[in-house]
Amino acid sequence: MARYFLTTAIDYVNSRPHLGTAYEKITADVIARYKRLSGFETHFLMGNDEHSQNVYRRARELGEEPLAYCDRMAQEFREVWARLEISFDDFIRTTEPRHRAGVTRMIERMEAAGDLYEGFYEGPYCVSCEAFKQEKDLVDGLCPIHMTKPDWIREKNHFFRLSKYQARLQAHFDAHPEFLVPEVRRNEILRLLEGGLEDISISRAGQHWGIPLPHDPSSVVYVWADALINYASAVGYGGDEQLFRAWWPANLHVIGKDITRFHCVIWPAMLMSAGLELPRQVFGHGWVHFKGQKMSKSLGTVLEPLEAADRFGPDPLRLYLVKEIPYGNDGDFSWERFEERYNVDLANNLGNLVSRVAAMVDKYRNGVLVAPAAGPGRLAQVAAEAAAAYGTAMDGFALHEGAAAAFRLIDATNEYIAETQPWALAKDPGRSAELDLALHDAAEAVRVAAVLLQPIMPVSAVEILRRVGGTGTTTEPRIADAAWRNAARTIIKGEPLWPRLEAPKSTPSQGARQS
Ligand code: MSP
Repeated sequence: MARYFLTTAIDYVNSRPHLGTAYEKITADVIARYKRLSGFETHFLMGNDEHSQNVYRRARELGEEPLAYCDRMAQEFREVWARLEISFDDFIRTTEPRHRAGVTRMIERMEAAGDLYEGFYEGPYCVSCEAFKQEKDLVDGLCPIHMTKPDWIREKNHFFRLSKYQARLQAHFDAHPEFLVPEVRRNEILRLLEGGLEDISISRAGQHWGIPLPHDPSSVVYVWADALINYASAVGYGGDEQLFRAWWPANLHVIGKDITRFHCVIWPAMLMSAGLELPRQVFGHGWVHFKGQKMSKSLGTVLEPLEAADRFGPDPLRLYLVKEIPYGNDGDFSWERFEERYNVDLANNLGNLVSRVAAMVDKYRNGVLVAPAAGPGRLAQVAAEAAAAYGTAMDGFALHEGAAAAFRLIDATNEYIAETQPWALAKDPGRSAELDLALHDAAEAVRVAAVLLQPIMPVSAVEILRRVGGTGTTTEPRIADAAWRNAARTIIKGEPLWPRLEAPKSTPSQGARQS
């Protein structure tokens, strides 16, 4: 079976997950579930980035031991991800021994390649970015991302000969246009490469919260070098060679657009230096804003993803984020818009369709459908087209188009019911075969749509399949299950999946919280 190894950025744990970080995990989860649906043996890695100065400071502020604090936060992160139905296969923390082994091995390899040297660093350092900045990166003396004044640091550091890899990186980008998508991110990095690369500091002096540099244990490995190596250490680098051979290189790193330089310049150069293969692809997604405002932990405008999940379950939030934001672009979340989409897409459209089909099958056929002799009818073609468009979109990470394709089938099914008017057919015993066909095909179209929506709405898709799928329905569908089935089945009635919100005006008072 073909394998697919994908990762997300690992999160700083100085505060809880917010909708922005959840957006990344949800969209990566949709890709992971789509790969499983498509038959890949999938390994989906997530984790926490713990060796940041901010994490250390936050723990101290709370009077906690940094490691105990990180243990607690790991629990909290895992709980949030579980509530959002994120199906990760592994969760790495950078304080784990397996990670330390991987970092030590990679730094040793880079040292052995002659790529590390001692030097002196003086310049601005943004602790929120955990990045050495250049004066030209600052706007009015502030970090443009966090709007804070960077620290000025002077320290003896170990440098990595990043400049040595400029030509090889350029060649890699030329040979692999798919390496960094979408195109807009690739262009940013190409411009950066054209501007020339400078060597970078790869250690921090005088700190002990981190992984000691193998050849100078008085320093720790710079937190970004440490963090990037998680992708390799999680699959055995420096510990379990067999596991590493099985999964490396990663097929996909899903990351935010603010950290493409780390993933597409520094990380590939580190891998080249250590003699390892590069990941096949990096996807740099856009940012989610909250009511048009930038959402970030350090700016204090965050939305707790659980708030939406607590009120409606994970699926409406997942659908909103996937369907309403073209993947790769920036997007916005507001309660008004979220509730509007909930009513339109879920309560009035998909939810109502599932209920109507079940109610009609119950009323006119006692819940039992036969395989119509005259079938399949015209919806089969619509379903085949939707499934094909969905596959193309999802393979190209156009997740929003994948969702839209599934909803085209749902819309067409609603229209089909309006046109065939099963309630009128039911009045005429002479049109019994037509009624069989109309009910069967409406139920079958809903089943196909549920298979396509499974990566996006895993909980409700399985429930819809249970209601309309009949025998042979599994809780883990495969893409082959999206093929039309002319088959007898029993339809199960149930509670409305998404009750309509009657007065969609509420903005919960706790909508924007201080982190
Ligand atoms: N620890 C680093 C990543 C190391 S990966 C080797 C980091 N952590 S973070 O917690 O600040 O961000 C984690 C991920 O969430 C990043 O990919 C970042 O781009 C993403 N996002 C943070 N805020 C976001 C939004 N408001 N919207 C979308 N994604 C956002 O960076």
